[in-house]
Amino acid sequence: MILSASKFYSSETDSTDVALESAFFAMLKMRNGTFKLTHPSRFQELEVAFRPYLEERAGSLREVLDVGVSTGLTTVELARFLTDCGSAVSIVATDLFIEAHIVELVPGFRVFCDPEGWPLQYDVRGIAVRPWVRRLDYVTLAFIPLMLGHSLLRPRLRSCIRAGMSRPVQMITRSLPSNGEIEFVENDIMCRSERLIRRFDMVRAANILNTGYFPPDQIQFAIENIHSYLRGPGALLMIARTNLARENAGTLFELNGNGSFTALERVGGGSEIERLVLDYRAPATADGFVSPLVCR
Ligand SMILES: C[S@@+](CC[C@H](N)C(=O)[O-])C[C@H]1O[C@@H](n2cnc3c(N)ncnc32)[C@H](O)[C@@H]1O
Repeated sequence: MILSASKFYSSETDSTDVALESAFFAMLKMRNGTFKLTHPSRFQELEVAFRPYLEERAGSLREVLDVGVSTGLTTVELARFLTDCGSAVSIVATDLFIEAHIVELVPGFRVFCDPEGWPLQYDVRGIAVRPWVRRLDYVTLAFIPLMLGHSLLRPRLRSCIRAGMSRPVQMITRSLPSNGEIEFVENDIMCRSERLIRRFDMVRAANILNTGYFPPDQIQFAIENIHSYLRGPGALLMIARTNLARENAGTLFELNGNGSFTALERVGGGSEIERLVLDYRAPATADGFVSPLVCR
């Protein structure tokens, strides 16, 4: 049975149960069609292979950016791993979708939705119902009420949120360390953010810059943005993808003085976008590093 958002965000549920948490978030379909998927301990081979490089640079790793973090479960693990390597880091964790709301439309009927009123889950007297349509729904005709619900409820949900008649929550893990070393920020990696420029000693992009998900020109654009977020020569970039068998392919890169990247280490044959990263050349600008702000 799916856990309702009201129950998930109440003090009734065990906040240390990461399997329950991952199962709850995995049922939420975002408005771009993606699910909040992540798994605990998915990057162990990467940690083993990259550890010597991170230990060597432990003293200079202070600010880290983790891009496309989903609920941030693996960001918590990254923080633990870097601490274990000897770094005292603070991490900015970004994702397209972090903020959400619980709106009680009528007594006994609540909707868990994003800030634009996109329904993520219905809650009918404590029973959670998914609002998204799956293939079988076209056979059973369940797609009709689901699609009608979406279009009729969205404007109402949006106006309830604007009027402050909702409970704001964040779609992030409850296993966060209490020391505030992880800050969550809603951000699109395709939109350059001024507040992230030249800040980070390391950027990680795991299970986001996948060739099956983004076309090469978008990936190139994301690399350009990530490049602009790195502090400068010597900064690290970790790119990885986990396959269905839960094996990882990833590459750890280092930024050179001329703005290009070198591959330091590979796991599982390396990242599928390694060539795009290695071929990347920083655009010539007045300061030789940061190109103009653009959004795609
Ligand atoms: C499969 S999850 C990966 C989570 C985590 N990094 C991991 O490997 O377990 C991909 C995440 O990327 C986010 N995402 C998709 N497009 C994005 C974009 N343009 N900018 C930022 N995040 C994005 C999705 O919302 C989703 O939470």
